[in-house]
Amino acid sequence: MVRIRRAIAPISDTAGSGAPKLPRLSAEGRTSKGKYVAHSQTAEPTRRDFLYVATATVGAIGAAATLLPLIEQMNPSADVLALASIEIDLTPIRPGQSVTFTWRSHPLFVRRRTVGEINAARAVRVEDLIDPLARNANLPENAPATDDNRLTPNVNGEAAAPAAAPGAAAAKPAEKPEWLVVVGVCTHLGCTPEASTPQARQGDYGGWLCHCHGSQYDVAGRVRVGPAPRNRDVPPYAFLSDTRIKVG
Ligand code: FES
Repeated sequence: MVRIRRAIAPISDTAGSGAPKLPRLSAEGRTSKGKYVAHSQTAEPTRRDFLYVATATVGAIGAAATLLPLIEQMNPSADVLALASIEIDLTPIRPGQSVTFTWRSHPLFVRRRTVGEINAARAVRVEDLIDPLARNANLPENAPATDDNRLTPNVNGEAAAPAAAPGAAAAKPAEKPEWLVVVGVCTHLGCTPEASTPQARQGDYGGWLCHCHGSQYDVAGRVRVGPAPRNRDVPPYAFLSDTRIKVG
């Protein structure tokens, strides 16, 4: 330190009235008299610069290494992706039977309706329903809760009755009215309602009864007796063939 302070003095010496006279320096920073001169800036990178760069680089790599697992964690796992959509073979389901599957961690009801059930569901007027909306992911949000609107759009992708007003007849009936697919969760507090069967009817509407607080659903999954406030959801699904559907 002492040597450096003594070497700085000649640099500020103006040697008369002219411009400051600077000493010539060797590559190591020595003057012609062998003294060292202090540097505040150098053109060549110093060891300290290297340490700064090395520390910043290691810091950036460390941050990236910390973030990668977090970002990875946010991606759905393979088993979740697999359950995002399921294919169901309808062949074993008999008329009048409701079979429960699991889709996205929720029960999913697939019901094969009898001709009598279809006719009863079609006879219901939308204005008599607790919830007048179809709640069908395959149709516009404001589609009325006609029986056809509770089913899937037809095989060619055209909705059964996309523009039907409340109470109006379906513009085009659903092509496969025997198949009803609804999420099996009561819209009150999330219990799983029990399905009516030809052998054991549940409730007054022939669909489902939720034993938790007494809500009843008809054979189109529409709420007919509360406290459930809305119709059960129809998930996105489509027919892959006459006997196979893909949900999700
Ligand atoms: S949870 Fe179904 S009626 Fe309450």
